[in-house]
Amino acid sequence: MKKVIVTGGAGFIGSHTVVELNAAGYVPVIIDDLRNSEERVLEGLEAILGSRPRFHRVDCTDAAALGKAIAGEGAVHGVIHFAADKAVGESVEHPAKYYRNNIGSLAVMLEAMIDRRIGQLVFSSSCTVYGQPAALPVAETASDRDASSPYGYTKVVCEQLVRDQCQAAPSLKAVMLRYFNPIGAHPSGRIGELPRGVPSNLVPFVAQTAAGLRAQLLINGDDYATPDGTCIRDYIHVMDLARAHVRALQWMDGRAGSTCEVFNLGTGRGNSVMEVVKGFEDVNGVKVPYAIGPRRAGDVEVVYADTRKSHDVLGWSCHHDLRDALRDAWNWQRSLKP
Ligand code: WQD
Repeated sequence: MKKVIVTGGAGFIGSHTVVELNAAGYVPVIIDDLRNSEERVLEGLEAILGSRPRFHRVDCTDAAALGKAIAGEGAVHGVIHFAADKAVGESVEHPAKYYRNNIGSLAVMLEAMIDRRIGQLVFSSSCTVYGQPAALPVAETASDRDASSPYGYTKVVCEQLVRDQCQAAPSLKAVMLRYFNPIGAHPSGRIGELPRGVPSNLVPFVAQTAAGLRAQLLINGDDYATPDGTCIRDYIHVMDLARAHVRALQWMDGRAGSTCEVFNLGTGRGNSVMEVVKGFEDVNGVKVPYAIGPRRAGDVEVVYADTRKSHDVLGWSCHHDLRDALRDAWNWQRSLKP
């Protein structure tokens, strides 16, 4: 049984990846300080997996605590590093917090991996490194240092840190996955997105509005140069995203020698904010009251993925579409106790 450390494994994408790791025969070990998640995620995972995953409540910037947790696990096959803060708006208000945590936790983890001779890393990156791409769909070869927020720049720096570490220690193999817009939930309704406070992301806000927890959705601008005037994104089902992490580990297993590769994780299709709202209403038979507000600072107009490299090289592609994700997002919202 191959043990895989999943930092941030109690988070949205991390918890769904734990499910897929287990399904693929790996033994996931969660390391998470629960700053942006809750212990009840472990209960949801237990309901899905049939047993509670191993868990260490550790801040990944704490080298001593992280080293102790990893040492306690014995032989470890690989690391999937999700642990990071990821709210674009918050990063503008608190850049130091973002640089310290996002870059610091990765640096500490890389040192721990070298120390423990763990040779495989999957790093959670983001399409925000592209900023507003010059050409669409955006490919991995596009300019990737044009982030439009401190959050995005932490991902730019982290990617460079991983590349430098792979150069310095050829025994380390790394895959960096650039997520587009993860949405949806596990079809069981046992785990899903748990935004703290007011959601900054679109789909959880839509779901909470449909559930009557929010009075209305404010659409951030409808004067963009898009067919309906609202921004376009590439919304990917979180289960497809989770499965890509397992594929990345398997792909590295099959490669000899130094490896450091970047892959886009998107559907390759763009949908507007209005299409998401109307799609959510249609697939779930609910109403989502909304009003048009001003543009949101930092928003790019249109971004969606070129998925050829992920398909041709990684051997991964999406199985779910937007409607599946919006259905599962609503199923999860309804399962949440008010
Ligand atoms: C999508 C669109 C908003 C809320 C996210 C993550 C980021 C990264 C990329 C992983 C925008 C509009 C939103 C609302 C709205 N993911 N919107 N009203 O900004 O693309 O970034 O995905 O790394 O971490 O933040 O996603 O869901 O915030 O916004 O109109 O109440 O929906 O303006 O056009 P975004 P989002």
